Order: sequence, then C-alpha cells, then structure tokens
Amino acid sequence: MIKQAIIPLAGLGTRLLPLTSVFAKELLPINGKPSIEYILQECIDAGIKEVIFIISKKKIMIKNYFYNDKFYKKIIKKKKDPRIIKEYKKILKFKKMIKFVYQNNPRGTGDAVLKTKKLIKDKYFLMLLPDDLIIKQNCSKSMIKIHNKYNSCVMASMNVKKKTVSRWGIYNLSKKISKNNFLIRSVVEKPSIKNAPSNKAVIGRYILPKRIFEKLLKQKSGNNGEIHITDSIQSLIQSGDKFIAHNFKGKYLDCGTMNGFINSNKIIGKI
Ligand code: G1P
Repeated sequence: MIKQAIIPLAGLGTRLLPLTSVFAKELLPINGKPSIEYILQECIDAGIKEVIFIISKKKIMIKNYFYNDKFYKKIIKKKKDPRIIKEYKKILKFKKMIKFVYQNNPRGTGDAVLKTKKLIKDKYFLMLLPDDLIIKQNCSKSMIKIHNKYNSCVMASMNVKKKTVSRWGIYNLSKKISKNNFLIRSVVEKPSIKNAPSNKAVIGRYILPKRIFEKLLKQKSGNNGEIHITDSIQSLIQSGDKFIAHNFKGKYLDCGTMNGFINSNKIIGKI
C-alpha cells in the first residue's frame, strides 16, 4: 500500500515572475483556493496518510499557511464566522498529515527527493509536482491501483505536441500493457526536438521505489546543472526496474507558467 507522498515545493517559480518574487506559487489561488490544496485533497482521496513537503527557508510562508493557529483562534473567538471556522478545520486536517523537510539550494527535483530519504518508510511512495493539477479524475488514485496490480513503478503520462518536447521528460515505450498503460523502455529529461524519442511526456505524478535514493546519491547533475529525477529513473530502468506510463483520464492544467496559470483559473472557474 502507498501511504506516503512527497511534494517538492522549494522551486523558485521563475516562470511565474513577478508574482513569485514575493509569493510562493503553490499558495497562489486557483479560483479562490491555493493550488497546493487541490494537490493535498487529491492525496487524501487517494488514501495517502502522510505528505512530506520539501520547502526552503525562502518558501517558509507555505509552512506558515498551515501553522497559524493563534491567529485563527483569536479571530474565531471574536467573530464566530462559520466560514472561517470551516476553513480553519480544513487547514487543521491538512496540517496533521504534513511533515516538512528543507532544500535550501534549488538543485533540482532529484535533489529535493533525496531530502526525504530518512522519512520514507515503505518500499514505494508517491510524488506529486505541484505545478501540475489534474482535475475531474484522481490521477494518483488510478496510479496506485495500477501499482497494486502490476507491483511496479508508475508515472503519469500524456501525448504532447512535438514542438514542445523540450519542456518535458519524454519517454519511449516498449509495449502496451493494457488500455492506457505502457511499459517504458527509456526516459530522457527535456530533449531537443531532434533528440526526442517520441512525443510522450511525463506529467508530475510518480510512484517511485525507495531504491531510487541509492541512484540519487550517485546522480550527476544533468542539463542546466540540476539533479533530475528523470535521470535516476532512467538509471533504475537500466537496472531492470519496471516503470509503467499511465495515460490518465483527468484534465491536465499546467499551473507553472503564467499562461497556464491564467488558463487554469478560467477552466476551474467554469466547473
Ligand atoms: C518536471 C520534470 C519533467 C516533467 C515535468 C512535468 O519538469 O522534470 O520531467 O515532464 O515536471 O510537469 P519541471 O516542470 O520541473 O521543469
């Protein structure tokens, strides 16, 4: 069973500047609710019991969002506003399941994952990238089902336009397993159009094995000098680990770019 999830939150959010010059992008509201709350709710609905946030000193406002009890208690005592009471209860529910670790230098997603090494208890864990919202269907839940069935690692996947391949981790499939699930032959981080093995992209939901920490400890930095989780996944595949790409059914919203963020607000606003 997958009970733990990790969420890398130490990124600088440069694609959302100037908003992120003073604000954590994961607290920016999508239709009135911080995007991180959508991700947390997805975790809860998928049966996750503990979520590890990887933050940095610069992103301490994320911790403060969940640790503001004095403030809420004072306001509730004065105002007794049912809306505020409800919101506070929700925050408390989230807070109970969150642990924090720190990645003070943004050295890539692989480095962020490594910071959780001591806290991961089981053989497999879930990772969610907060820029990627998937609505209308719980992608994590579907991936956990696939993991349980095939006892393998799983990544969310989607076909993308060929001209955008250098924005994503791109994989090559070796065979179809079932309707929306494919065995991965290899994966590469942000290839050029010329070098891309396909137009099949990895989206920010991963079921990873604890073994990945051994790979990450040895992982050399990749393009732009960061430690990429994709490179360690490729290394695991080469060592014989089974990775399944799951073409999820929900709707993908890219909240990590300005256009994507604006669009996500419009789409969720209409639901
Ligand atoms: C990360 C991963 C990339 C993946 C993408 C999905 O990139 O490194 O492999 O395709 O998330 O959103 P980032 O968005 O951090 O640049």
